[in-house]
Amino acid sequence: AERLHKTVLPEEGLIPAYVHTDPDVYRLELQRLFGRAWLFVAHESEIPKPGDFVVRDMGEANVIVSRGDDGKVRVFLNSCRHRGMKLACEDLGNGPSWRCAYHGFTFRNDGSFLGAPYQRFAYSEGLDRESLRLVEARSDAYGGLIFATWNRAAEPLADFLGAMTWYLDILVGRAEFEVVGTPQRWIVPTAWKLPAENFASDAYHTATTHAFLAKLGLVSGVDFGRLGYHVDAGNGHGLGIGVQDDGPWYPPELRQEYERNLSPDQLALLDRIKNFHGNVFPNLSFLIPNVIEFGGRRVTGMTLRQWQPIGPDSIQAWSWHLVEKGAPEWWKELGRKAYIQTFGTSGMLEQDDTENWEAQTRNSQIALTLDEPVMLHYGMGIGREPMRDFPGLGTVYDGKFNEAAARSFYRRWLDLVAGETR
Ligand code: FES
Ligand code: FE
Repeated sequence: AERLHKTVLPEEGLIPAYVHTDPDVYRLELQRLFGRAWLFVAHESEIPKPGDFVVRDMGEANVIVSRGDDGKVRVFLNSCRHRGMKLACEDLGNGPSWRCAYHGFTFRNDGSFLGAPYQRFAYSEGLDRESLRLVEARSDAYGGLIFATWNRAAEPLADFLGAMTWYLDILVGRAEFEVVGTPQRWIVPTAWKLPAENFASDAYHTATTHAFLAKLGLVSGVDFGRLGYHVDAGNGHGLGIGVQDDGPWYPPELRQEYERNLSPDQLALLDRIKNFHGNVFPNLSFLIPNVIEFGGRRVTGMTLRQWQPIGPDSIQAWSWHLVEKGAPEWWKELGRKAYIQTFGTSGMLEQDDTENWEAQTRNSQIALTLDEPVMLHYGMGIGREPMRDFPGLGTVYDGKFNEAAARSFYRRWLDLVAGETR
């Protein structure tokens, strides 16, 4: 922790490369960050009916996100109370209970203990049902996004999200959304913070990493990535909004629902969106990619991302595609195709980003072997004045090229992982 405080200097725009892959740092992260923060686990539309469940991760902890027979959403450690065997072995399902594959203990979808095989014979001395309840995390939802935390003393979810709620309303609260299919998952040999900070704060890379998009004429060349706003939403959350002034980019059929759910300021910003990316601290990212010409129409495929650590230098990437439930069929259909072509395992853009993150991770591992820390530059926009007349919450900067949100990400990260000493 002391070394972290000496070398991680977000306010000076300096982050040492070793923090991305140091195994000791990673152990602290699992305990103090993934063990305590609010973490995204599922979208409500993935478990619409009583008895539905999906299996997810909170850091490295495998959990069951369950809608009980009573309709209530609960999040349980996926671990049997008898000997700790994994309880739900499938990725998703529906049923009143889970039966452990080891000795057959059975638990209801509200977490209570239901029974054990040969119970009267095997446990003739009796079994205390209460002590056998599944270990349950605290959970809550915002805009259809279900979050959970192991921290009983954590602030309410809405406080944790803070200023980010204003933007989440635009992203997922503007309409009723549904997840299309099941999320794609793949392994990337990258430290988890690299994609998280990229989505939170890095509009700058698009002009270089994804330059071919402009060359192919898929986005307008010069300005791409530059015009818009950079938002430090507090608590380590960050986002960027690219803007255009050609008017609304979505099917007019959806407008009424948007009007009902958004304030006039939020609606005005929505209409100007060219792209919209961000990260809910620590590891939930989102993206409305640039609207592209596809199948003769203008579409975009919105995605949620989660960067689940599976070690200090590797992640399981999760990718959900979301669409408005009430959208016209062509929007759903073409949006799904656009999503598949741009991001995910087969996406044109995904590969570019992945290559960066892999190489950065390799170099972080090298930095670990050197005595002197290799300091990386996070100084873009230091000292720049935020806007005063922006209607949304958070600290907002004019222009997307800025690293203020990355500095805030690492400040929040440092406070949690190394303890506040400021
Ligand atoms: Fe689950 Fe024994 S470990 S029943
Ligand atoms: Fe990118």
